[in-house]
Amino acid sequence: MTPRKTRILTGITTSGTPHLGNYTGAIRPAVAASRAPDAESFYFLADLHALVKVQDPARVQRSTLEIAATWLACGLDPGEVWFYRQSDIPEITELTWMLTCVAGKGILNRAHAYKAAVDRNRADGEDDDAGINAGLFMYPVLMSADILLFNADKVPVGRDQIQHIEMARDFGQRFNHLYGGPAGKQYFRLPEVVIEENVATLPGLDGRKMSKSYDNTIPLFAPRATLRKLIASIVTDSRAPGEPKDADASNVFQLYRAFAGVDETAAMRREFEQGIGWGDAKQQLFERIDSEVAPLRERYETLMAEPHKIERLLRDGAQRLRERHATPLLRELRAAVGLRDLSQAAGGKRKAAAKASTPQFKQYREGDGRFHFKLVDADGALLLQGPGFESAREAGQLVARLRQGAGAGLRAESGAVWLDDEAVGELADGVALEDVTAALSGFADGDA
Ligand code: TRP
Repeated sequence: MTPRKTRILTGITTSGTPHLGNYTGAIRPAVAASRAPDAESFYFLADLHALVKVQDPARVQRSTLEIAATWLACGLDPGEVWFYRQSDIPEITELTWMLTCVAGKGILNRAHAYKAAVDRNRADGEDDDAGINAGLFMYPVLMSADILLFNADKVPVGRDQIQHIEMARDFGQRFNHLYGGPAGKQYFRLPEVVIEENVATLPGLDGRKMSKSYDNTIPLFAPRATLRKLIASIVTDSRAPGEPKDADASNVFQLYRAFAGVDETAAMRREFEQGIGWGDAKQQLFERIDSEVAPLRERYETLMAEPHKIERLLRDGAQRLRERHATPLLRELRAAVGLRDLSQAAGGKRKAAAKASTPQFKQYREGDGRFHFKLVDADGALLLQGPGFESAREAGQLVARLRQGAGAGLRAESGAVWLDDEAVGELADGVALEDVTAALSGFADGDA
């Protein structure tokens, strides 16, 4: 087993239909990054965020389906990455409240999206907060919970989201500081923002940033004919064919560059200098985009025709993810903030009765055909996730050795647990090696 992988996490708000800007700015780089062998990737549909802006339930549902199908069509492999829907993870909303209670209100007052809404009200001579729901104000806290719950190391986002990642760091740090105790326990890692420099933002049809709020987008999976028409409608200056054109000032060129390689881009730049006509430039842009998008569009259409498959896949992802990461961490966080079992309160008399249940090993076969085991505590929460084996016998032998060894000879390194030189599993989030050895020593007592 290898040391803890770098965790990369990103979400897309399910409030619209994916457009080319979402694709080049977020989906494409994220899918590429998900293939890195040293990454553990988290991709999710931020449907709770959608509720801030969209109060049309059918649209939330439709957009969630479209975005899920888009990511799958673009090559996301749900067997290799965590792929889930935000609202399927109740721990996110629970953590949101804990973070709300450490977040500075003054910091939220300065969030760009909220401030922009206030500025619009002022310009219109309205009350500062007229028509602003508290969801818009709290948006950065919910987003922080998305990120901190899974202790993400890197968060690939568009530039407009940088401030939100800074806030996540701030809230995470405050929580660590407030509840870390004398040992300075770090409940949360502080995430880093990742911006894909080359294609930071795409221009839309009117030249402003491509964004659904400007209604200037090109849908990623528009049919071919529509794609061609939309590209033909991109605003340009009125230079005639033959007149040299400034590539860097051109939306057509910016879009082309987001899809073309270095050499193709350099060639197009020369064509601009040599006065390519806008019609030709747009035709080349259309061909370039369509050659990348056409195979994805075909897969997308297949996926959209089978929504029940996507539903099943998302539920399965959320369930495994909760068990593996969210539930154990929340258990720890609840204890950290004082949401605790009252029978353990200082000054109270402990009940002498032993717990009804005890830790357990569970063995099972995964979808990949391999045999796995896990160690869960008396409440059924995951402590240790074992590796996969070719046969049930091999898995059973390791379980027997762990039981008999009663935790002797185990060591942990970046979350990976070793017995002498053999990798025997990975600690669940928030679980210390001592928790595992304590559970294992119980087996030895019981066996004796
Ligand atoms: N706010 C992000 C956007 O609009 C979407 C999002 C929600 C997100 N939660 C996140 C992105 C967590 C990264 C990490 O683009």
